[in-house]
Amino acid sequence: MKKLMIVATLAALASHVATVPTTAEETEKVFAFYCAQCHGLGGKGDGPNVTKDFPVSPRNFTNAEEMDKLSDADLKNVIMDGGPAVSKSPMMPPWGKTLTAEQVDGLIKHLRALCNCKGKEG
Ligand code: HEC
Repeated sequence: MKKLMIVATLAALASHVATVPTTAEETEKVFAFYCAQCHGLGGKGDGPNVTKDFPVSPRNFTNAEEMDKLSDADLKNVIMDGGPAVSKSPMMPPWGKTLTAEQVDGLIKHLRALCNCKGKEG
């Protein structure tokens, strides 16, 4: 009986975790782990992975003018499905199988904080 209780508690906890939006700290970790290698820790597009051989520069997320041209839906598409899905470079990998929808939503907020811009409507 006790064992059953533990299982039930764990299941309740797990479902709870899954629905809670990602916190800002978690988002920073996700960004540092998955994105900073190319986009840079500060989002300036100057990560350690980027060499002269890169055919395109990773987007500088602090460039409000450029980032304003993209809606949150555009950001979601490119993060989930990668560069080619939005006719951009395949150097930008798809993350839809790696990150959860909550993590991606957190990243979009993070990018909006970096550019200090709202982006296009829609
Ligand atoms: C292997 C290097 C690399 C990694 C890792 C990477 N990106 Fe990119 N990203 C790029 C490149 C290169 C571009 C520019 C593509 C272009 O302009 O054709 C880009 C572009 C983008 C854009 C802008 C697309 C646009 O329409 O202007 C967004 C948003 C973006 N990346 C988000 C992310 C996020 C969030 C992560 C982490 C989950 C990430 N990227 C990880 C290389 C990378």
